[in-house]
Amino acid sequence: MTFHPAMPYGTPDWHKSARKLADEGPPFEFTPENRRKLDEILTRYPADRRRSALLPALYLVQDQQGYVSGHAMTHVAEIIGCSRADVEDVVSYYVMFFTKPVGRHVLGVCRTLSCALNGAERLTEAIAGKLGIAPGETDPTGEFTLIEMECLGACDRAPVIMVNNEYWHECQGADDVDRLLETLRTRGVAGLTGCHHVKEK
Ligand code: FES
Repeated sequence: MTFHPAMPYGTPDWHKSARKLADEGPPFEFTPENRRKLDEILTRYPADRRRSALLPALYLVQDQQGYVSGHAMTHVAEIIGCSRADVEDVVSYYVMFFTKPVGRHVLGVCRTLSCALNGAERLTEAIAGKLGIAPGETDPTGEFTLIEMECLGACDRAPVIMVNNEYWHECQGADDVDRLLETLRTRGVAGLTGCHHVKEK
């Protein structure tokens, strides 16, 4: 009897996760400034709760390195006093942490119900087509990474794109893609309007 038809029961190591561990990347150490910031953050927690600082520590890594490499996870684990596996668990759970280098602009297109009903799939296809990449990939210029995300909390303004984990760009359609990409190329995120309630024209 098997529980799932796709599981390779009976083959060696079938019970082990096939998830690839993070790219170890180059050696990593916080800059003195980021280390100071993390040390300050750590003072907010009791000694036996230092792992509560994992999320802000990982944001500092991502700010500094652009993604979270395996070496960075080890570095964070050593500072906080937890295991590397604890850090990996957090990194792999939250989609806002990238485990490989990404483009200057990360476009996260929401694919959950409201956005799906309002054309998110066409939006993703349009971006992928313009950039010549599939979701999860970075374009050859290193300018854009395209990913799909779950609900971004702005369902009434679907479909929504989140740029660089920070800027919501809403009410977007496939026809808006050229302008969005050009804006980001020429003006960066400063060209985005952030949250807004009416469709931009
Ligand atoms: S479904 Fe896309 S923002 Fe909620």
